[in-house]
Amino acid sequence: MLHTIETRTSVRLYKKQPIEQEKLDTILQSAILAPSAKNFQPWRFVVIQKNKEIIYGIADLMQRSTFVKTADCLICVFLDKDSGFDQVKDCQTMGACIENMLLTATSLGIGSCWIGEILDKQAEVKELLQVDQARYDLQAIISLGYPLRENGTKVSRKPLSEVVLGYK
Ligand SMILES: Cc1cc2nc3c(=O)[nH]c(=O)nc-3n(C[C@H](O)[C@H](O)[C@H](O)COP(=O)(O)O)c2cc1C
Repeated sequence: MLHTIETRTSVRLYKKQPIEQEKLDTILQSAILAPSAKNFQPWRFVVIQKNKEIIYGIADLMQRSTFVKTADCLICVFLDKDSGFDQVKDCQTMGACIENMLLTATSLGIGSCWIGEILDKQAEVKELLQVDQARYDLQAIISLGYPLRENGTKVSRKPLSEVVLGYK
């Protein structure tokens, strides 16, 4: 577990190698095992792998789109507002399920990147995917693919001394 956390990095260059269906299923299964406020499980997913036109369509909505075009798969993560109950707690729930997917992908040797930039284009994404505009909130898109390079560079972190406010 710790090894997976330590080795996960955002991967933004992918090989042209399809991700096996069973591995995608494992990634999605890990999402739904995340904790959720009141166990309401408001997460919903649209998985885009076969239809590269949709992947390109989403990439075209973004500024930093080149890496998205090389992704084998995108998982669009939605909050079903009909299943949620509290904005902050629902948002935290969604973060938990997203992180589970990133860590599971890492443990399977699959590179991933959490994409938030696309949230500015909520309506366009929902239109492309034919997802109900009012009911679902786009929370993130996760790009997935086998990493082009092994051992991505680890981005530095603030030291614990800076982020731990205190030990009491
Ligand atoms: C909420 C959120 C939104 C993010 N949005 C983007 C994004 O739009 N594009 C991108 O390339 N990376 C995005 N990232 C990835 C961060 O840039 C990355 O996690 C951070 O730089 C630390 O690097 P690491 O993931 O390699 O440890 C996002 C991460 C989070 C948590």
